[in-house]
Formats: sequence, structure tokens, C-alpha cells
Amino acid sequence: MSASAPVCDHGAVSTDDSPTRTLSPNTIAVTAGRPVGPGVPLNQPIVLASNYRDTGDYTRTQGTETWVALEDAIGALEGGRALAFSSGMAAAAAAIYALAPKVVVFPSVSYMGVRALLAEYQERGHLELRPVDVTDTAAVAAAAEGADMVWVETPTNPTLDVADLETIGHISRAVGATMVVDSTFATPLLQRPLEHGATIVMHSGTKFIGGHSDLLIGLCVTSDDDVYERLVKARTFQGATPGALEAFLALRGLRTMPLRLEASQRNAATLVDRLRAHRAVAVVNYPGLGAMVSFVMKGGPTAADAVCERVQIIVAATSLGGVETTIERRQKYAGDAHVEPGLLRMSVGIEDINDLWADLSAALR
Ligand SMILES: Cc1ncc(COP(=O)(O)O)c(C=O)c1O
Repeated sequence: MSASAPVCDHGAVSTDDSPTRTLSPNTIAVTAGRPVGPGVPLNQPIVLASNYRDTGDYTRTQGTETWVALEDAIGALEGGRALAFSSGMAAAAAAIYALAPKVVVFPSVSYMGVRALLAEYQERGHLELRPVDVTDTAAVAAAAEGADMVWVETPTNPTLDVADLETIGHISRAVGATMVVDSTFATPLLQRPLEHGATIVMHSGTKFIGGHSDLLIGLCVTSDDDVYERLVKARTFQGATPGALEAFLALRGLRTMPLRLEASQRNAATLVDRLRAHRAVAVVNYPGLGAMVSFVMKGGPTAADAVCERVQIIVAATSLGGVETTIERRQKYAGDAHVEPGLLRMSVGIEDINDLWADLSAALR
């Protein structure tokens, strides 16, 4: 990869009249990964290259400036070194490949794709899986005895359970297990798992980081150099490389993530209050932060399906983390068959709150 457009270093600034200080994540989201030096483009352009002159560099192995800009920005926000992958699933698969666990503690309610991948490994005899309720820290501690990986997803998909990362980090270290945290729902702005002892934090950048439902990308971040090298190997061997356009768009999305998330969280908090007071709703799950909400309809799956059919501004769709509000009944998927049948997962967007509530309350009626 060419060294002609070095990306800036970031996270701290030092000027003649002020000591070095740490920048706010909102500033890092805007400044990290920018090219530096006179005459360079203000933003890292899309580099379409599989091959580099003279150096022997090849993109699958060394990456491109566009990937590195995104990786620098996510690494700066998480406090480690990031690597971009072709999707969140590719990032999860790379974390498993890199750490090669034999016994994995895993949240029994969590994103079905990663659970299915681990189940597949178990079926093939590569590892043993120990499902736990991640909100039950004592159960995590008991399951961690003899385990070499504790996989945490928090908040969880789709029930929005929150794990005590600090304590689970201690538990993992005490038994000599690595802790991997899928932090997709929290984003790098609301949670920094490396500070709680995570070996790897992973994201589906497809969701809030990209933020516009127009790309697939994944990220792993670590502060351990050896683990970083193993992740590089995972990406190189498995070929799970991000596209140039996707890396560019993900970084562009990241620039506005603080604003988007702020607006989505404001909307989510209002919707949660109103849903909690609504007679058609039995339970509302909301951790108090973030843009994901789930709620259970008193009328069960029939009522929940009716809501999805009737919304007009809110979109009945499976993914999440975009500027638009999406809603879905998760138990209809075989992988989420154990979830409440009447549970609706909603990813709250940035539309006007009055329009959102008018749409949702009409559908609830
Ligand atoms: C929590 C979580 N992790 C990982 C993934 C997988 O990400 P991707 O779809 O980018 O492969 C998803 C996708 O929905 C998710 O919700």
C-alpha cells in the first residue's frame, strides 16, 4: 500500500499553548482517518486497487488507504487497532478463527447468525458451546470455569439485555479466557469494551456506523498486537475483505454517527415512554441508551404482525441502525424461535417524533 497519503494521528491534540488532551469521541468521529499534509484531499478518497507498484503489496494482504482510514477512525474511538472485514459476520468469523477457542461461553439470546456459526463449529466437533443468560453474571462465572472464550453481546439482539462487562471482564481474566464483545448495538460511542478487558470488540458496521442501510461491512478491534496479527491472518486467509466503496461509505457514515445517534436516542426515549403507557403493549425492553427498542404485544404474534403490516413511515424490514425506523417480529425466524412470539424489534431512526408516533400509534390501534 502506498505511503503517499498518510492518515492523521488522532485522539489527542497538542498545541504550543495547551498540554496534550484527549479529544471527545464526537470530534474523533469527524477527524480520525483524515489524510494529512499539504495538498492531500481533505477526505480519504476511494482507492480502487488490488495491486501496488514496486512494493509487492497486494490489497487482500496489506489493505488500501480507504480501509486504513476507516480502521484508524474506529480504532481511535475504541482505543485499539481496528481491521475492516466484508461484513459483521466476516468479522465474527475472523475473531473465532484468530482466537481458535475450544470452549465458548455464549449468550443464549443474541444475534442468530453468530449463534448459528458457533453451533456449526460445535456440530463439527471443533468446540463446545455453553449458552448462558448474559445478564446473570453468576451463571456466566460458573460457565466460564474451564472455558477459553467468553463471547458477550451487549445490548443483545433482539431482547436488549445488558451484560456487566466490567465483572465479566474480570471473570474471563481470572479463568484465562479471552472476552470478545459484539458491540454492534452500543456503537463505539456508548461502550468501549477494550477498557473492560475485551480481547476483541467486534461490530457489524452495516448498522449504526454505516447508518444508511446501503452497505455491508464489519470490524474487529483489539489492543493486543499478537491478536491483531492473527486477525490480519484471518482476513488474509479467509479473503473476507471489505469493498472500497463500502469502506468509504462506512467512514462517511461514521462522521455523522454522533448526530444520528443523538437524534435516534431522543426519539427512542419518547417512543419507549409512550409504548410503556400503551394498553396494547405488555413489555418494553430498553436499556436506557441507544436506538434499539423491543416490545411485546399483548395480542401476541397476530397483533405484532398486524403492526408490521400497518406502519407506513416506519419500514417493516430486517436490518437496523439506519436513519430510517425499521420494525420486525423476530420470532418468525427459526434462529430466533425461542424469543417471545409477540416481540417486535424496532431500530429507531431520525424522523420527526410526532410523525413516528402518529404512524406507530395508528398501527397499534
Ligand atoms: C448484533 C449483530 N452482530 C452481527 C451481525 C452480523 O452483521 P452483518 O449483517 O454485517 O454480517 C448482526 C446483523 O444483524 C447483528 O445484529
